[in-house]
Amino acid sequence: MTVLALGYAGFGSTDLDDWRRFGTGLVGLQAVERGASLLAFRMDDRKQRIVIDRAMPEGMRLFGWEVADATALEALAARLEAAKVEVTAEPKALADARRVAALISFRDPAGNRLEAFYGPEIAAEPFRPGRSISGFRTGPLGLGHAVLTVEHIAPVMAFYVEVLGFGLSDYIEKPFRAYFFHVNARHHSLALIETGKNGMHHLMVELFSLDDVGQAYDLALAEPDRIGVTLGRHTNDFMTSFYARTPSSFMIECGWGGREIDPAGWQPVEMHHGPSLWGHERSWLPPQDRAVAREMRMQAAASGLRAPVQVMDGNYRLMPGTCAWWDGIGERET
Ligand code: FE2
Repeated sequence: MTVLALGYAGFGSTDLDDWRRFGTGLVGLQAVERGASLLAFRMDDRKQRIVIDRAMPEGMRLFGWEVADATALEALAARLEAAKVEVTAEPKALADARRVAALISFRDPAGNRLEAFYGPEIAAEPFRPGRSISGFRTGPLGLGHAVLTVEHIAPVMAFYVEVLGFGLSDYIEKPFRAYFFHVNARHHSLALIETGKNGMHHLMVELFSLDDVGQAYDLALAEPDRIGVTLGRHTNDFMTSFYARTPSSFMIECGWGGREIDPAGWQPVEMHHGPSLWGHERSWLPPQDRAVAREMRMQAAASGLRAPVQVMDGNYRLMPGTCAWWDGIGERET
């Protein structure tokens, strides 16, 4: 796949102080000052992953999609031009500002500014989280996922799948229309929700520890109206998460325990059980759709819909289970 990962994202806002407090104090990002008009956040070894730019109007957003090298960037530019998409080769000054080797820019059919780049700069100093968290799961999975609202899914989906080469992971038609796309083993790096309006819905960041998310939830609960979506677990990527309202008009989803998929053998399916196994009361949904979502969760509870937790080395301890033979082996060894 040409596009390897969601490398960075940028948002226009004049509320840099609020963003700094929110990003560091709640989410756990590291703030890096870049003068009076730009606030950058680190979340790993890279020099920046998220930028808040005073020079960009509120509501404006950009997404940096990563490719392997200069050859891959040229090939992507050629593919875009063949599909009659206007491409700009951005100057060195912008590449320096993005902390990458080189980039091109273009727009998706919903008007989002997209950038494709290679060669992210790595910081000499280690990542220092804004509050005490275990860290963010990034690496080859990218910074997380971006979810956009769109007027109509079809033309936007055609662009991402046919021109950029994204793979459809799965989709739901109820209680709202949402399509999920992967570019690597992360279940989705992009999703589109059909709301009738082009905009930004949320950005997801994934933490290493479930307790990081729980403590962020406590911090969010302490502020009036900070919670946009309550704690819950997703049906498709198995993420346990909640959504916090940012100082801008979209949300950040703080998640833990997302599944990995094998893009080579993946078959997209329609999900019929709604977006969440439990929780995720969505304040952004219209009342009638919210009622449908709640009814779907009641059905999930009635039928006992469940999925295994997705863990990695270091964040779990295997307990004795219900197998008397295996538990007996463990007892003899200790
Ligand atoms: Fe999400």
